[in-house]
Order: sequence, then C-alpha cells, then structure tokens
Amino acid sequence: MQITLTQPDDWHLHLRDGEMLKAVVGSTAEHFGRALIMPNLVPPVVTGNDALDYKKRIEQAIKDTGANPAFKPLMTLYLTETTQADDVVEAAKAGIIIAVKLYPAGATTNSASGVTDIKNVMPVLSAMAEHGVVLCVHGEVTAGDIDIFDREARFIETVLEPLRSELPELRIVMEHVTTKDGVDYVKSASKNLAATLTTHHLMINRNHLLVGGIRPHYYCLPIAKREVHRQALVSAACSGDERYFLGTDSAPHTRSSKESECGCAGVFNAANTMVCLASVFEEADALDHLEAFASLNGPKWYGLEPNSGTITLQKTSMKTPIPERIPVEDDWVIPFDPARDIYWQVL
Ligand code: DOR
Ligand code: ZN
Repeated sequence: MQITLTQPDDWHLHLRDGEMLKAVVGSTAEHFGRALIMPNLVPPVVTGNDALDYKKRIEQAIKDTGANPAFKPLMTLYLTETTQADDVVEAAKAGIIIAVKLYPAGATTNSASGVTDIKNVMPVLSAMAEHGVVLCVHGEVTAGDIDIFDREARFIETVLEPLRSELPELRIVMEHVTTKDGVDYVKSASKNLAATLTTHHLMINRNHLLVGGIRPHYYCLPIAKREVHRQALVSAACSGDERYFLGTDSAPHTRSSKESECGCAGVFNAANTMVCLASVFEEADALDHLEAFASLNGPKWYGLEPNSGTITLQKTSMKTPIPERIPVEDDWVIPFDPARDIYWQVL
C-alpha cells in the first residue's frame, strides 16, 4: 500500500540556533514544505528585526548543511509584556511574521520573558484582533497550586474563554492540545479557534512516561495525559475537521540536558513524524484524512495555498527503525521513540 499526499507543513516547530539549528533543520526540511518557527530563543525573538535576523540564520543553516533549499521557515514573535502593538502589526503587514506566540511566564522552556497576566497584553491582543494577526497560545496556567495534569483545562476556563469573550475577533490557535477538554473546547467554538496536535501526544500517554521508570525523552510540556485524552486527540486529528492540524512541537535538547536531575521538556520528532502519523491514521482507519491534517487544514487557517509538491508514504513489511541520534557538538539529540512498531516509510 502506498499513499501520496500534498507535501505537509509543520505548524509548530522549535529549531533553536547555532550548532543545534544546523544539526536539526535538515530533518524538517526533508519532508515538510514550511514550518512555523517558535520564537523561544534566549533572548527571545520579540521584534520584527529579530524575526528577520533569525530567519536569515535559518536560511544560512539550510545552505551550510545542504538541507532541502525549498523549505520555508515562517516566523513568529514572542509576546512579552513590553511588546508594542504597532511593532506586531507592522511586522505582520510587512509579511515578516504570520503569528505571535503567547507563553505564560514560567510555563515551559525559555518562557521567563512570557506573560504574567493576560491583562498586561490586552492592548497588543486587541490590535492583533483588529488586523487579523493570529495568536498562538501555550495553553497552560502556571500557578504553583494547580496540578500539572490540570493546567490545560484550567487555562481554558480562566484565561482562554474570558479572552475569547472579550476579543471574539482574535484568531487563536491552541497549540499542542493534550486533553479531551482542549479538543472539545475547540470543537464547541463557532469561529476563530483552531488547535495544533503533536506527533508524540497522538502516540504516548502518561504511562509511557512514568511506568517502569522515568523516561526523560517522553517528558514534554504540556505533559502527556491519560489514555482517554490521547484517544480524544486521535479522534480529533483523524476527523478531517479543518480546525485541527499538525504542529509537531519537535523540540530538540541534548541528551545530557534531558537525562539529568532536572531534565528539559521537549521531544524531537521531526525526522519520523510522517511515518508515525501514517501509523496512527492507519490504526484509526483514517488514512484518507491524513492529508487534511498534515497538509491542508493548516494553510487554510493561515490563508496560504497548500504546497505544490507531494510526499509518498509506503507501507513496509520490515519494521521502520527509529531515526539515528543526531550529533551536536560533543553530545546528541535522541529522536522520538514512538513506543510501537512502525511499518511505514517515506519514499
Ligand atoms: O516540551 C516542550 N518543549 N514544550 C514547550 O512548550 C517548549 C518546548 C521547548 O522549547 O523545548
Ligand atoms: Zn513548542
């Protein structure tokens, strides 16, 4: 069996900078036409100029490493409490960025410059609503007394719903939704709300992370939830509903920073996402909706044309190996182990 799809895009990707950028960019460029690049560098990408400079560094890394030159990075800005509405609107009008990312301060990797209270960024958000600039949200509350497994649901209730009532015209993507609450909330919205789903949250639940020993390479944020939530994510992705699309959240960290006393959050799935998705959609008897999820729904939301190229996935009789670890300086990035046997390859 073999299926050919419009070339996919990744609507949520961490490429980092410097040597890490060079090490990982080729994995995404090999299969994807475009990717929405997350701005959580240190220091973060906050102005249009920062985004232009970062884009140039990505393009240079593509050249330097011989990665697929047709790959296009699409840029975002990191929303801080000192972000100026005019800067955001100008960067969007100039085509430098297509979205702004909201990290609640302290929610995840490199989020220290994020937002402590949504009220502090309302002028920027209302300018974005007026000018149609997309807001991508890391949808978790960060209060210390809220259980880590409840943080997404609490965010919907205490931040997202009030924000959407106040600014119904703001176009929002709930990034890396991990709960049934999240997919149901998106489904219930009549307009201006979509969600990305990651490869790993479609494949692992919290048992994979915690049973039989702690598996640091499955640790990511939002944290993997119960199986019932994973099943809800699979149903959403496989439904063909245009409000759900692929954002891998591929987030490389070195092996030593993951396998540590205080390990970093992030799963590096760029190299095997497409074969993993083929397996998930096959199991759900929904291969006919894989193209919508990976290649069509995202561009439609962002008002872009789908890619003109195609990708072909073929069912194999031999088990597909996990991609090789990637050397970075004197360390490695360990690719995502999908915790099941995969029998697909990209031709
Ligand atoms: O697991 C994660 N890793 N979640 C995020 O939100 C950020 C990302 C990273 O940058 O490493
Ligand atoms: Zn992310």
